[in-house]
Amino acid sequence: MINDLNQLRADALAQLAPIWDDTALEEWRVKYLGRKGAISASMEQLGALPKEERGAVGKLANETKGELEAAYIAKVGAMKQRALSESLEAEPLDVTLPGRPVLRGRLHPATANLREIYRIWGDMGFQIFRSRQVESDEMNFQLLNIPPNHPARDNWSTFYVADTEQRVLLRTHTSPGQIRAMRQLSQGGTQPVRVILPGMCYRYEQISARYEIQFNQVEGLAVGRNVTFADLKGTLTEFARRMFGERPVRFYGDHFPFTEPSAQMDVQCIICDGAGCAMCKYTGFLEILGAGMVHPQVLRNGGYDPAEWSGFAFGMGPERIAILKHGIEDIRYFWANDLRFLEQF
Ligand code: PHE
Repeated sequence: MINDLNQLRADALAQLAPIWDDTALEEWRVKYLGRKGAISASMEQLGALPKEERGAVGKLANETKGELEAAYIAKVGAMKQRALSESLEAEPLDVTLPGRPVLRGRLHPATANLREIYRIWGDMGFQIFRSRQVESDEMNFQLLNIPPNHPARDNWSTFYVADTEQRVLLRTHTSPGQIRAMRQLSQGGTQPVRVILPGMCYRYEQISARYEIQFNQVEGLAVGRNVTFADLKGTLTEFARRMFGERPVRFYGDHFPFTEPSAQMDVQCIICDGAGCAMCKYTGFLEILGAGMVHPQVLRNGGYDPAEWSGFAFGMGPERIAILKHGIEDIRYFWANDLRFLEQF
């Protein structure tokens, strides 16, 4: 019996050695370690042995079983290892290569900048009023004191959509939204309004590094019973402080047909801190926005009585602000959809 067991072990190990496929391995397992396999059969024969031999033979049978089980597990591991190295050889894989970056979406720099501006004006009590991009000549010009053939029209090169009696056009600025906001929100000129009017504007320009045919503007309008030029200066100064940090601003006279008086606001250059650089053309200041007190006739066109109501308005170009903030040298990058540009933000 002892010889049988030793022979069984030697046969089993000899048969296992050349096996390298799953079916043969399973057959081997069933043949030797299965419930009806050779080891089980030997165990069953123990009972028939004389008592004196039973102990030694039983011990050997258990040892043999343990040895074959260990050999089986080692074989399973060796086969896995071999399968892995074979597949690695078949399709070479350099595990030291750096991983591929996951492409993730992000906000367009113009959108991120607009949202920053909305947040600041929102904190200061201004609501967003969305006005239309396709406008009538009346809204875009006439109700803003720019009659047909007025020389000020030269400032707003215009795309006309349809040359009907109404002269439908793409708005050249967000200012026509002033009229719409007043008419829609003031309840017949009886309630104050405080809104910003953001959105795309269009001008018939020669496209260059400095001019685009489309761009965003953020218009602002505040009308109340006692709104003064001091309110305009204070509000815009506070906006600049929140947007650009603690730095000087300056106002000086300008002209727009729909505001009187009109002003322009500059902020100390954020690139050179006023020392003078190419960005501020060595003036130390950057032009940020146009503004003014709403012209009495414009108030009237919006439904207010200018004897009792007054207001201020302003208009800024957020892309211009983003250009200044990030030192972008060409405005055409904004709508060119060039990933090399967009991925920098
Ligand atoms: N609409 C003017 C422009 O496009 C800007 C502006 C808005 C000026 C409101 C004064 C008041 O240049």
